[in-house]
Amino acid sequence: MKPDRIAVLGAGGFLGSHLVPGLVERFGCAIDAVDVDFDKLECSDRRVRRISARVEEPALVEEVTRGSSVVLSLTALCNPALYSRVPLDVIDASFTHLLPLVRRCAERRVRLIHFSTAEVYGRRALDTDGAPMAEMNEDTSALVLGPIAKQRWSYACAKQLLERVIWAHGEAGLPFTIIRPFNTIGARMDYLPGIDGEGTPRVLACFMGQLLRGEPLQLVDGGEQRRAFMAVEDLVDALCRVVERGSACDRQIINLGNPQNDMTIAELGRALAAEFSRRVPGAPPARFESVPAERFYGPGYEDSSQRVPDVEKARRLLGWKPLQSLSDMLPPIVDDYVKRYSPRIHGPAPGPQTSVA
Ligand code: UGA
Repeated sequence: MKPDRIAVLGAGGFLGSHLVPGLVERFGCAIDAVDVDFDKLECSDRRVRRISARVEEPALVEEVTRGSSVVLSLTALCNPALYSRVPLDVIDASFTHLLPLVRRCAERRVRLIHFSTAEVYGRRALDTDGAPMAEMNEDTSALVLGPIAKQRWSYACAKQLLERVIWAHGEAGLPFTIIRPFNTIGARMDYLPGIDGEGTPRVLACFMGQLLRGEPLQLVDGGEQRRAFMAVEDLVDALCRVVERGSACDRQIINLGNPQNDMTIAELGRALAAEFSRRVPGAPPARFESVPAERFYGPGYEDSSQRVPDVEKARRLLGWKPLQSLSDMLPPIVDDYVKRYSPRIHGPAPGPQTSVA
């Protein structure tokens, strides 16, 4: 299936800025790129129309559900440092603000491809009887969130509730696919505090900021918790296949991630530091320090100990598999951060810190 027009909500974010050019290239169709900030969206293709609006605005909901054959919804505050600091904003962004859109898609039978999150699986992979599983499965894993006072789970809970709303509308005819992305990384991810944002970004940007500033990499509780990292390019490929294969993916929840790249956060830090020193001659050796989670994130934080996706359904429905290993991904990521931030940290003069090998 080739869509005429796709609306991408959250087109100016990290994922959106990769998906929009990927969709134009794959389908050659018109894209309504919706966001409030387009700094990351470098695509200048004339088929991409930038619409500056918030997803909860009624006029925007009307416009995208009237004009598009597919709506791709990516907007959220998807950063763990926010989940317990501004939980109401997090819940609004992932649930309340999207309800009108979901309802209108259902009424108009517009295909909705909604980005949920791997966070919905919660603390670890368990089946519905509580027995451990090696991987998190869309249709057989339990969703294991912590107590209410642990507000870390506010985001996962809001995302889960919207999945349930979408599912229920699907039973009444809404054509939908829910995507659960697992730790996707790439160029332009997040921001560096004090330069183009405030607070604490996700781990990749935390580590890159620390490497660029010559500060120790902070390993929360020692960095023994595990994540499986996927290249954003692999995600874009999968998503294009989801758009293409509308009927195969209809009313499906699909994990997208790379189980081959399961590693501890400390291992990620060491790999990133090694790549940084290869690409930035003269960079000081990286240092690491363990920080208690409560000091790093404040009260209300809990972690997932391990998060490995079962991608069998994605293989079956999409004929897809993730291709990039961590060592494939890191060189262009390091180059991107160095190019974007080194002049702003160290000044424009060429020197050992600013040259990229
Ligand atoms: C977050 C979001 O909550 C997910 O929805 C999203 O799918 C995911 O990021 C993603 O990147 O795709 P999480 O993996 O917990 O989930 O977030 P990160 O900030 O990337 O943290 C990963 C791990 O690194 C956590 O265990 C965290 O405690 C640790 N960490 C983070 C450090 O050890 N040091 C840091 O400086 C930052």
